[in-house]
Order: sequence, then C-alpha cells, then structure tokens
Amino acid sequence: METKRWKITNETSEAQAAISEAASLLKKGETIAFPTETVYGLGADATNPEAVNKIFAAKGRPQDNPLIAHVATKEQLLRLVYNVPDYAAQLMDAFSPGPLTYVLKTSGVCADNVTAGQETIGVRMPSHPVAQALLKACDIPIAAPSANLSGKPSPTTAVHVWEDLQGKIAGVVDGGPTGFGVESTVLDCTQEIPVILRPGGVTKEQLTQIIGMVVTDPGLANSSEKPKAPGMKYRHYAPEVPLLLVYGTPKDVQATIDKAQAEGKKVGALVSDQTAAEITAFETIRLGKNLPEVAAHLYDGLRKFKTREVDVIVSEAFPEDGIGQAVMNRLRKAASKHIHMS
Ligand code: TXA
Ligand code: MG
Repeated sequence: METKRWKITNETSEAQAAISEAASLLKKGETIAFPTETVYGLGADATNPEAVNKIFAAKGRPQDNPLIAHVATKEQLLRLVYNVPDYAAQLMDAFSPGPLTYVLKTSGVCADNVTAGQETIGVRMPSHPVAQALLKACDIPIAAPSANLSGKPSPTTAVHVWEDLQGKIAGVVDGGPTGFGVESTVLDCTQEIPVILRPGGVTKEQLTQIIGMVVTDPGLANSSEKPKAPGMKYRHYAPEVPLLLVYGTPKDVQATIDKAQAEGKKVGALVSDQTAAEITAFETIRLGKNLPEVAAHLYDGLRKFKTREVDVIVSEAFPEDGIGQAVMNRLRKAASKHIHMS
C-alpha cells in the first residue's frame, strides 16, 4: 500500500485540504497516523470493526489489548460511555482536552474490537491542534493506539511513524514533534477511588490536586500482581540493543559504562544534560536538563541507538516525581537489566 504523507505547518488552506483528505480516508475505513500532544496515534473509525482490525494488523498488536477512542468534544466523549462519576466530570473540566484517558463503562457505540471485548472503554480528548482539526473534520470517534510497531518505542515524530509503518497504512499527517513525549495517563474511573493504570502526561500530583484521593495500580510496580491495563503486561519500548538501567549517581553510571567497555563493548549513554557533563561513553545522547525535557526526548533517544553502532545502552534512572513517574515506567519496560548501586 502506498502511504500518503501530508506536512502541516500552520493553518493554511493547504493544511485544511490535507486534513479533509485524511478525514475522508478515515471515514472510508482507512488507517491514518496523526500527531497528538503526547505521541503520534494510528487512527481508524472506532465504530467500524474492519477499520479497527487494520490497526491491529499494521502494528502487529495482540488482539487482547484494547484501544483508546479519541474525540474532539466532551459531548462526543459522553456518548461513548455511561456511569461517569463526579470525580471524572471534575477531571474532564480540569484536564480535557489533554493527556488524560478515562476508563469507563462502554455505551456500545464503539466496535467490540476497540475494547477487546471488555465492558469498559478508554476515552480521551487530545489537545493537539492537528488532532482536534482531524477529529472535528471526520466527526466520528477515532480509535488510536501509539503509531509504532508493537513492542517498539512510541513515535514522537512523523519520521518514527514512517520507519515503522510506511507501506502498511494509508497516510501520515506530519505535524512536527509531539509535546509531552510520553503517552496519556490512563485512569480507571469505574472505581470509587480512581486508579492510575498507566502513568503519563497528567501527573498523579495534578490529579490529586483536583480530586484528592488517587491510587496507582499495584501491578505497575515490579510485584507479582498483574497490571490492570492489558497493554502494561507486554514488553514495550524496546530499543534495538540491550539497555542497562542504573539506579545510582553519575559515578555509578560511569562505573557501569567502564565495565561494559572493559568487556569490549561500545556503550551508548542515555542521560540528562547534567549527567552528560560528568561521564564519558562511546556515544552520549543528552535527553535534557529537566524531567519534562527528558520525557519529550526519551523515545527518540531510545530509537537513535542502532545495532552495529553501539552494543549496549546505559541509561540513568530519573527521579520519580511529576512526569518522572511516566519516564521511569517506560524505562523500566525498555530495560533488559536493572543495576542497583548502593
Ligand atoms: O497518549 C496516548 O494515550 C496515545 C495517543 C495516540 O493518544 N495512545 C496510546 O494508546 O498510548 P496505546 O494503545 O498505545 O496504549 C493504550 C493503553 C494500553 O496499555 C491499553 O491496554 C490501555 O491503555 N487501555 C485501553 N483501553 C483500556 C481499558 N478499557 N481498560 C484498561 N486499559 C485500557
Ligand atoms: Mg502504545
């Protein structure tokens, strides 16, 4: 299949023509990748099971992993769900549009393969102007997982989408790099107290500020319990080469690099700007000077190290506050080995 590519820089008539072409392909049951404020999504008509199947096929995604339905407005969102608790309504006022996904009882408007046959559905209103324009132009709920091959890091640029899905999807709307760089927070709103199933763009601290009590799915910690979001049980975000995650100081990171180099390995380091100034490796990727910058550059960093260029990646562990929770959740999944220094 030939994959179309549209570049959107600002609100020109050319951009509008691209959006309407992409929207009409979506309405015809085709798959289109588009930018959101978190990562690029691979969209299809959520009410059309054949269209939704094309998402699973293009990504190689397991059928038991449900998809998030995307809409432009709160009215559209409320048509997809029922039993919305007060706290969810308060969160919608505070964070939607934005990087928060609500898991609620499905009204049955979306196809069964969107929800993987479950009674609940994840719904979200992205804030990215291109996503908003596209959703408004097609006026149907759009099922959209991250637009990567299953198992790989999520795409934060149209080039990442192209690398993974070119030839397998109908088109990519290129709206430049995404903002947050990690996916939306997935929040189970079917319980009396909401449960974070996946940490993401809206932090636990932000949720707590609005509604008080929020808990985190115990299955997300390295415990024996199974995570409640089906997708969280799979290995994810895997770079091409093994990744060692070092819990310690920059000196500990350097010690891990030195040990691998002594074994004859070429080491790629994935670190903050501050740590980069204190270490030496074969190649160093600087992710930024604070946690939001690290989140924005993480997936690009994981994708940059290629086989034959380096043999192993050494990454530092980041503080787990704010968006650091999402960063560390993804890094733990990307890691093949965890190294705890005293
Ligand atoms: O930021 C995002 O959320 C991006 C952009 C494109 O919107 N989308 C995204 O979708 O990350 P995906 O499919 O890559 O991840 C969705 C996660 C998976 O872990 C899935 O298992 C979980 O949300 N999920 C979806 N529906 C669910 C449901 N009904 N109950 C529990 N978990 C659900
Ligand atoms: Mg994904």
